[in-house]
Amino acid sequence: MPGTRRRFLQQVSAAGLAWGARRGLAAQMSMAMASRSGAVVDEPPRIMLHSLGLTPFVDALPMPERVMPVGSHLLRVVMREIHAKVHRDVPPTRLWSYGSTPMGPLIEGRSGRAMRVEWVNSLPQKHFLPVDYSLHGCGRDLPEVRAVAHLHGARVPTKDDGYPDDWYAPGQSRTCHYPLEQESATLWYHDHAMGLNRLNIYAGLAGMMLLRDEREDSLHLPNGRYEIPLVLYDRNFSVDGQLYYPTSGIPDHPWVPEFDGDAILINGKIRPYVEVEPRLYRFRVLNGANSRFFALSMDRGKEFYQVGSDQGLLSAPVKLTYLNLAPAERADLLIDFSGAAGERVYLKNGALEILQFRVGRPARTAGGPARTAKVKEPASSLLPGRFPETFEPVVRIDETAATVTRPITLDEALNGHGDSMLMVLNRKRWMEPVTEMPRLNSTEIWEFVNLTEDTHPIHLHLVRFQVLDRRVFDVFAYRNAKGLRYLAAAMKPEPNEMGWKDTVQCPPGMITRIITKFEGYQGKYLYHCHILEHESNDMMRPFEVLDEA
Ligand code: C2O
Ligand code: CU
Ligand code: CU
Repeated sequence: MPGTRRRFLQQVSAAGLAWGARRGLAAQMSMAMASRSGAVVDEPPRIMLHSLGLTPFVDALPMPERVMPVGSHLLRVVMREIHAKVHRDVPPTRLWSYGSTPMGPLIEGRSGRAMRVEWVNSLPQKHFLPVDYSLHGCGRDLPEVRAVAHLHGARVPTKDDGYPDDWYAPGQSRTCHYPLEQESATLWYHDHAMGLNRLNIYAGLAGMMLLRDEREDSLHLPNGRYEIPLVLYDRNFSVDGQLYYPTSGIPDHPWVPEFDGDAILINGKIRPYVEVEPRLYRFRVLNGANSRFFALSMDRGKEFYQVGSDQGLLSAPVKLTYLNLAPAERADLLIDFSGAAGERVYLKNGALEILQFRVGRPARTAGGPARTAKVKEPASSLLPGRFPETFEPVVRIDETAATVTRPITLDEALNGHGDSMLMVLNRKRWMEPVTEMPRLNSTEIWEFVNLTEDTHPIHLHLVRFQVLDRRVFDVFAYRNAKGLRYLAAAMKPEPNEMGWKDTVQCPPGMITRIITKFEGYQGKYLYHCHILEHESNDMMRPFEVLDEA
């Protein structure tokens, strides 16, 4: 394991139980050994908060403020510094937010109804996290705090997409136009400023948007207070409750290739609880972490159903006991608590319980069971625990529709000590000329050839895509110009990955293939790894949609 990784990983040894699915047992053991051997730490000693020492489930899960812009009304969202309690026993934490609470407002939109949002940068002039001025687009000659909002998963004209170079300084604002001509989905918005967004998002600049349409309405999934957003992420804190972002120990290049935080937060609280009724609930789950993958399950192997992925509903609910969610991926889940009245049920990440559900007793009135719930929820005709067995099918794109196939390598550059210095796509850095130029309305297959040791969640702006398959290949032969040798048959995605996506996990030693039609707009967009540390150095590339052929 590279030395740099060891240095910051040992700071989070207390989270040993919670390591995501990405890392194998060997890696976990070497981390444990690194922390015992007390390997070199070249940073000033800082007393870290060990979140596992905090009493869990003492804070109620915060529900974000819901906003629903109507007509041509302009929604104003102000980025600002706030102080908030992440746990009952932790002093208030300085955070940045798109609202007055740790989680930005939950924006509700309707398909086909355009929305205008004014994103106001009212952040302070100085950053409070360790800026790496050596990263591309991050020089000392620029305003230290820069921001630009991107609506992840939305098909928007390039000028409104939050291009990384389109950042602006505190005191300025931008109004973006979102046509929202796309199907219902769990979208999210977050900062995208060049070289800084890993820190801006870590500081708190993220929020969710739920886009709805008639197809979704017709399913009568749980709504209102029975539909709960869950934004999952991890952070490190010092004992005084302040955010801590690790550095490499190299003064001129503090960038770290990735890290997992010690504390797991949901909607702004460390390991909260939520009171639920003994009935069916819908959870809109987002992995909003910088680089952590979540390995989700319910305690006692309880089943749950996935009904949607990044870009909307699946063809049918998929029964699961386990779900691995990479940074930026979303899952639309149904969990039935009707058999658990009076119990405590847990959502877990790995072996760690991260959310406690306190299931109440059924509400009873003279009229019979669960009457009150039904009266308050006229839009839902479903009985608790019931939902349609199939939805409208997601039509698979025919592979023969693709006119271009682009192999894209995922590469990692190490220094002489085996420390990760750089991650790139196609051996090219961000500022090199555009090489991917699909035609408007053309269909292409992109093959992500992963030559690194990590799983990279690759995200494309503008489009929604489908995962075709994954196939193990001979990395050594490929690297040594011996050509492409497959070592096994291609694997089809699991049923819960057969819907529309905008972020795909590309495992090491595999070629992951996606297919997409470049619809909507011409112009410059980008694709990148959504491990934010990778994205900023320099696993991000532009692509440009050209005029129809
Ligand atoms: Cu979540 Cu470039 O985006
Ligand atoms: Cu995006
Ligand atoms: Cu990556």
